[in-house]
Amino acid sequence: MEGFITYNPLNPFDGPTTADDPPPAYSDDASQTAKLAIDNPAFPGSAVYRRQAKASKHEEKLKITGQGTVAVLAPPKGYVLLCVELANPTMSKGIFLLVTETDCQIWWATDGKDLNTFDNALVTEKNPNKATWHLKAYEATYWLSLDLPHGIIRYGIGLFTVQSVLFEIRLKEYTNPGVWSWKEGWEWLQELENVTVWTGGESELAITPLPIVNDIPPVIRSGDRVSLDDLANGQFTVPENLSVECQKLYHNVAGVDVVLDSPDFPDFSSAIEYSVNTPGAYGYGLLKSKQGELGDDFRGTYLRITIGTDLGNSPGVPYVLEIWPAGHFSPIHDHADAYAIIKVLHGAIECTYYDSLQEDPEPNPIFPNPTVLKKGDVTWLSPKIYQIHRLRNLSTEGKVCCTVQCYQYGSNDTRHYEAFRWFKLTKDGSKEVDDFKPNSDADFMSFKNNIKEEWKKVLAGNTANQSAVESRSFAVFKSMVAQSAPENLSGLKARLGIQ
Ligand SMILES: [Fe+2]
Repeated sequence: MEGFITYNPLNPFDGPTTADDPPPAYSDDASQTAKLAIDNPAFPGSAVYRRQAKASKHEEKLKITGQGTVAVLAPPKGYVLLCVELANPTMSKGIFLLVTETDCQIWWATDGKDLNTFDNALVTEKNPNKATWHLKAYEATYWLSLDLPHGIIRYGIGLFTVQSVLFEIRLKEYTNPGVWSWKEGWEWLQELENVTVWTGGESELAITPLPIVNDIPPVIRSGDRVSLDDLANGQFTVPENLSVECQKLYHNVAGVDVVLDSPDFPDFSSAIEYSVNTPGAYGYGLLKSKQGELGDDFRGTYLRITIGTDLGNSPGVPYVLEIWPAGHFSPIHDHADAYAIIKVLHGAIECTYYDSLQEDPEPNPIFPNPTVLKKGDVTWLSPKIYQIHRLRNLSTEGKVCCTVQCYQYGSNDTRHYEAFRWFKLTKDGSKEVDDFKPNSDADFMSFKNNIKEEWKKVLAGNTANQSAVESRSFAVFKSMVAQSAPENLSGLKARLGIQ
């Protein structure tokens, strides 16, 4: 029964901070003026809300009785105590979660009396390292998801993803034909309504109406290319499921004509590959000049070819052609809390997503396996979801990867950070998080012209650096020429001994 056509709510803290949103329509509670309605892009119309004022005690109600995700953004102080109880009578039955620096316990109580632990047979520890369940040494989000249709209680820290689940408790069973039924004695959970949270310092509370069920995938596919199998597998999301910022960026670069090898320069990608792989060539020189910018390793370099100009709404220039030679990689980094869309124009790139950008504990991958993006694939990130990643070109055949990145700050972002933060691991083993100001190695049109001129010389058999033909790229270059096949390469092919 895995693979529903549903996704998790995006992070409810990732919403407007101005007070001009209308209060949620479902309540006439006067205190609603202190809260914000935040539309969940994954489920238009499904408002979530949070308090504007921080407090160390919150009282709220689930929007849907017995269902939702209760999230607490809490400081590294003392404890988080989260209670979800029946509305009437209060303190009668409920679920109680306590997180401290050294412990994490969940109980259920009936008749306002004893706290009971859940039978071990009901609990699945998704992360058996219980130290990871405890209060963090930094501000973090602690959440409890109540999945009414499947009767699953899930606890997690950090991102609102299935990958972040630390344990789950299953209180329904699947019975034929296709019905989930409460195990005996747990029916009262469907009446849960009142939420109370206490924290050791000032915290924020957010409640989404939907539980954590499926992760919204990092890869986008336009609706006209999604099949029933894709929907069933949950491998892609359509852009309409994403925030308006991501949708806008997506439609700017997803078009079929946003390609490298355009009619005016059909060998552009081959020419880039030659240029970055060949010592003495233009692209290789640019890369060499960057060595040391993000660590000492030459493989830690990539080219940022900017397209257009910085309009003040993105970290650096909003559109960037990034060029990743084979074996090259980025550090683990974030994106100035901006939204972004990345489209692969040539080759393939491995993308690993991380849970945080802390020095201690170090960033952890949020999926067991990295995502490999191929030519034509598009991925997305937002301030809270998939914000931190590392890119690597894993090609062992010298194949370059070219991607176009586009960035935009959220409309609610009133303090543009203007730098990417990256995880720096020095030779002596020390760790720090440093700023990288998004820069430009060349403007796109001048880069394209330079590559074109260089390629003309290559085709004429007149390389700028003859020894380059003997370089590490020779085999790659040779196979590239063999594959490109236009008749005007015949002279070069003959010289390289290609039939
Ligand atoms: Fe990135």
